[in-house]
Amino acid sequence: MASLSLGSQSRRFLFAGVLCCLLFAADHVTAAADKVTHTRQGSTTDADHFVDALLARMTLQEKIGQMSQIALNSPEGPKRDELILHGEVGSMLFVRDPQEINRLQHLAVEKSRLHIPILFGFDVVHGYRTVYPVPLALAASWDPATVEKAQRMAAREASSVGIRWTFAPMVDIARDPRWGRMMEGAGEDPYLGSRMAEAQVRGFQGDDLSAPDSIMACVKHFAGYGAAVGGRDYDSSDISDEQMQNIYLPPFHATVHAGAASVMSAYMDLNGVPATGNRWLLHDVLRKDWGFHGLVVSDWDSVPSLVTHGFAATPEDAAVRAVNAGVDMEMTSTSFRTYLADAVKKKLVTESTIDDAVRSILLAKYKLGLFKNPYVSLERSQKELVSPEQRSVSRAIAAKTAVLLRNENHLLPLKKDLRTIALIGPLIESQPDVMGSWSLGAHPQDTVTVVEGLKRSLASTGTKLLATKGVEIERGQPSIFDDQFPSPKPTLTTDAQKQAEFNHAIDLVRQADVAVLVLGEAQTMSGERASRSTLTLPGKQEQLLEAAVATGKPLVLVLVNGRPLNITWASQHVPAILDVWYPGTEAGDAIADLLFGDAVPGGKLPVTWPRSVGQVPIYYARNLTQIPNDPDTRYWDGSSAPLYPFGYGLSYTTFSLSDLRTSAKAVQAGESVDVSIDVRNTGSVIADEVVQLYTHQRAGSASRPVRELKGFRRITLKPSERQTVTLKLDTHDLGFWSTQTRSRSIEPGVFDLWVGTDSNATEHTTLEVTPQR
Ligand code: NOJ
Repeated sequence: MASLSLGSQSRRFLFAGVLCCLLFAADHVTAAADKVTHTRQGSTTDADHFVDALLARMTLQEKIGQMSQIALNSPEGPKRDELILHGEVGSMLFVRDPQEINRLQHLAVEKSRLHIPILFGFDVVHGYRTVYPVPLALAASWDPATVEKAQRMAAREASSVGIRWTFAPMVDIARDPRWGRMMEGAGEDPYLGSRMAEAQVRGFQGDDLSAPDSIMACVKHFAGYGAAVGGRDYDSSDISDEQMQNIYLPPFHATVHAGAASVMSAYMDLNGVPATGNRWLLHDVLRKDWGFHGLVVSDWDSVPSLVTHGFAATPEDAAVRAVNAGVDMEMTSTSFRTYLADAVKKKLVTESTIDDAVRSILLAKYKLGLFKNPYVSLERSQKELVSPEQRSVSRAIAAKTAVLLRNENHLLPLKKDLRTIALIGPLIESQPDVMGSWSLGAHPQDTVTVVEGLKRSLASTGTKLLATKGVEIERGQPSIFDDQFPSPKPTLTTDAQKQAEFNHAIDLVRQADVAVLVLGEAQTMSGERASRSTLTLPGKQEQLLEAAVATGKPLVLVLVNGRPLNITWASQHVPAILDVWYPGTEAGDAIADLLFGDAVPGGKLPVTWPRSVGQVPIYYARNLTQIPNDPDTRYWDGSSAPLYPFGYGLSYTTFSLSDLRTSAKAVQAGESVDVSIDVRNTGSVIADEVVQLYTHQRAGSASRPVRELKGFRRITLKPSERQTVTLKLDTHDLGFWSTQTRSRSIEPGVFDLWVGTDSNATEHTTLEVTPQR
């Protein structure tokens, strides 16, 4: 019923007589929209005509209104209806009730003067109502198809309630696990990060952005946010040109190339110029060099923050600097609405700058098909939200993202005929904690807890599950999501209660054949405003682990986390360690699948795993030092080698790699070469392996990292099966931006090539790159 009445509203929009002028254009566009194909630039002549005609009819006030996004909890939230009626709301953030979305949209498209639809946005970062593994976990799949699938499912779900714009993917390179937002990105490597970033854009936007189940991606945070000094969230980034060009910018560039239709400017100060007022970034690099024609939105409050940074003199100056730098839309704060009209009168901003900004916004709405289909069908969400299909895809993907860090004597997978399993840890019964931070559209009660998942898996067996928390985690300061996910009140309040629960847990371990300890970080301990000065297991979890190990029982540690944690002691004393990150809605079932071998871990680390916080920042693609091969000489009090290398991860089977070869020994710059290797499953279960190709340029105009990832593929092999994996090495990927030449080029010379299953790969050959003829 509801969708019928929406249909008629929509028709009224198209046929209301008073709107004939606009409707001429709208009809024209409607017909043309059917023919529109989404190009890399994202615009077509028809779209441009439509937008220009509309722009010509807009007042300055209406234009500035389009450049403003309001959130329900922002200062303008309560005035939203009135502002919409005046045509002064370009976008809304955090509205997610489809009926409310349709009501607000109705005000915009039927009651405002120019009938411009509102763009509804939300942070769909790793799922909407069905939560998928966090992006760092998705990157651990090392499988772009899996990542694309996760974000396609998320787009289907979010769009079913009327959300057509997500603030994702977050593509910030992060090399310091103290930074809480490492969890939102793909880790430390620009090559892996670029492939994951493109996959996410493809997933969100689909083949056709105007399809009702596609949502517009917003690549963030442009750029360099991941280099926050000391890993402290929002802190400045001080990044050399070389690092900016070779490490921090490439994932953004890759998404622009993949057709990402919007970009978010970052909060922080970049080398003295805050990103939101940084014209070099937002104009010279993004628009001029990369040819980006989409929409640039600020981050929340990042426009007025230009004053806080000591960059802009006044709030008006902040608005002027942001818009002149290239910000088209202001997220939630009101500087544009308050100051831009006057700034135009004072000639601080030209009206053509305003027009360019509005054009980007209207084009985005056009590309999304919002002028043609502004409303959401209420029936869609009923079928889509936490549907069995969403759940089963989330479960399979969660299993694909887990990384097996240790497995002495094949302790995993566990047999289902054990007499007793002890399941211990503060996260085993929690629903929000296993979802991870960006789960604002989720209902925690949809989540399968670890206890529930294991019970379900053991239901038809005689195995007894003895479960208890052992310890509770003290959550520290309230998180930014405290309204949505209030920290649970501790149930163990006195020392005596805490000790009794601790002892009880260790008793259960003693009674069991095997103990599974699920330890790690609560939901709000990784994410925005969730940086840490240590990497230890929060609270008394380490003590619990050590006491459990002291029982002598076989023990499996399941880690729930958004960053590498200090598990150096565990890596020597706990026989099996499985990192499941924040797995999402299907956490319990996915963890059970992995523990009992119904799924086989095949994920690989997207970040280097340090031994202690003192080693960070740490990453594999470092430049060679004077004493390159002695990890024990650089700190006198410990090794400088990581605990686990980038790309590392075990399986329940084993693989052998042999016969590395290239299709040519020398190749011209600009051409590509095939790099092949034979991979064999030498164990007894079907499983996945990730073949990884690393390169090193021996000499050139600048020294280059000791190894750089330049190709990878995840494959599945049955026991004894052998497959030749061929990775195409494009010499463009060997190019780099050199401080000497201040440009990017492929420098001829000799390159080392390694292929293997982590960044310590040993199969080696060389390749000569010759000058282009
Ligand atoms: C601030 C965060 O930095 C950004 O990533 C997010 O998209 C916005 N808030 C909106 O929630």
